[in-house]
Amino acid sequence: MNELTAAWRGEFPGLEQSIYLNTCSLGQLSRRSMKAMQRFMELWQRYGASAWYELWWGELADARARFARLINAQPHEIAILPNVGVALSVIASSLDYAERPEIVVTEMDFPTLPYQWMARGREGAQVRLLHSTDRIGVDLDAFAAAINTHTALVATTHVFFTSGWIQDIAAIAELAHNRGALCLVDGYQAAGQLPVDVKAAGVDIYLSGGLKWLLGGPGVVFMYVREELIDRLEPTTTGWFAAKEMFKFNPVRFERADDARRFEPGTPAVAAVYAANAGMSIIEEIGPAAVRARTRELVADLAARLRAAGLAPRLPQDMDRHAGIVMLPAAQPAQTVAALKDRRIIVDHRPGAVRLSPYFYNTEAENQAVVDAIGDALASQGAEDGP
Ligand SMILES: Cc1ncc(COP(=O)(O)O)c(C=O)c1O
Repeated sequence: MNELTAAWRGEFPGLEQSIYLNTCSLGQLSRRSMKAMQRFMELWQRYGASAWYELWWGELADARARFARLINAQPHEIAILPNVGVALSVIASSLDYAERPEIVVTEMDFPTLPYQWMARGREGAQVRLLHSTDRIGVDLDAFAAAINTHTALVATTHVFFTSGWIQDIAAIAELAHNRGALCLVDGYQAAGQLPVDVKAAGVDIYLSGGLKWLLGGPGVVFMYVREELIDRLEPTTTGWFAAKEMFKFNPVRFERADDARRFEPGTPAVAAVYAANAGMSIIEEIGPAAVRARTRELVADLAARLRAAGLAPRLPQDMDRHAGIVMLPAAQPAQTVAALKDRRIIVDHRPGAVRLSPYFYNTEAENQAVVDAIGDALASQGAEDGP
């Protein structure tokens, strides 16, 4: 077995119960995250509210610092939020749509991105939705043609959730900046499985969270906002956490915090922060470059095995631009996924395709078992369809 995989498999007891190629939906639960959540409960019981001041505040600071290190940012540039929807809503509430009404998004982005601005038509926001010609990526030319002096923001994705395509976020940020627009990147499918450098990419806002490749589970999203931009954004979706001196509880005067806390409306899910910190510590220990190298190897292996079985995964030509998501177009994706579940193989589906996502803790043998099971499922569906 690969050395890295062998060293870490034992950390994820769920891998003994099923074959799991679904990290792009939800990363595996580690022993570390389990222990961390247990610790959170013990502290809650032992300290009561003083856990806040004595311990939990420090845990939040650790989470900001850890996520910052993973994306080459600084801790004061990181806000902690419950999910991407809320994070986008805070940013969307900071924009002035009078002069620049347009938000550029793509049909490959997770729909919560376009939804955020479709819902803000009343405030004057107008969505410009870019199309994909191959259902894998979106041409940079399409961004270049759509971004203009009416664009407030380009809000798009680092790794697309239904293709695994890695966008050139540096080039997109440059196109946005050349026309005076901001660039927000949803990195939920990227951070953890890829080395990320927000400074090198030059993006303004970068989001990711615990759920998937950071191995931290649901309930926590981290939002990087570039230092120079922080005090230029004045969100109206806000709350007491965003106040400069929040513990003065001053109801008469509201002054926003100077750091990224100004984007946090209220109390975070502390249990989720404990789990996320533990998950991120694993990624940090292995190193995103090593995670990427192993995941890439597994993706190439899976693609080769699918092809050898006569199947046709939808993949980009350039594997350097492809992360840990493999789409297999299928006539009956939900049925195929259900058939695999009966054999204790967990994969996922999205419209028109079965979605497979190996991570560093998977093995080539698991890839083969998944391919075999898909072959059997498709054969039995064919038999059911009849001649
Ligand atoms: C790219 C991407 N963005 C966002 C989300 C989730 O957004 P939220 O945290 O608002 O549920 C997902 C998946 O759940 C995703 O794949």
